[in-house]
Amino acid sequence: MKILILNGPNLNRLGQREPDIYGSETLTDLVKKLESYSEKNNVTIQSKQSNWEGQLIDWLHEADNAVDGVVFNPGAFTHYSYAIRDAIASIDVPVVEVHISHVHAREEFRKTSVVAPVCIGQISGFGFTGYEMAIDYFWRRNRS
Ligand code: DQA
Repeated sequence: MKILILNGPNLNRLGQREPDIYGSETLTDLVKKLESYSEKNNVTIQSKQSNWEGQLIDWLHEADNAVDGVVFNPGAFTHYSYAIRDAIASIDVPVVEVHISHVHAREEFRKTSVVAPVCIGQISGFGFTGYEMAIDYFWRRNRS
């Protein structure tokens, strides 16, 4: 089984960026963790990060028919990018929305996700573990 891990804007700043909210571990630490988690479960992951909306959209399009699922943290695009929402709606591959922080317990604008209605579901507030939970979901889904 193949899963694409997609991270959006500012997630390359993990470790330096607001560590009280996002923790002190880096994006490289996250990817290493997910690689070892996936190997144990016989899942192949590919990990990509971009600060650019169009690049994320291109990668979503390319993921269609190429992977079994996408684990996607769209960063702030979550809250207002109809283009990313439409890109998710345009592909058949299922997408799980993940947030490191508990977006519903933060500022008002973070409580809105324009992508949630076109995703399988949303995982928010469990730190890096949320990505593992999403991988786990795809693994179970693929088995049944
Ligand atoms: C985030 C939450 C978003 O509101 C924020 O803009 C991010 C990160 C999270 O992982 O908690 O960039 O998606």
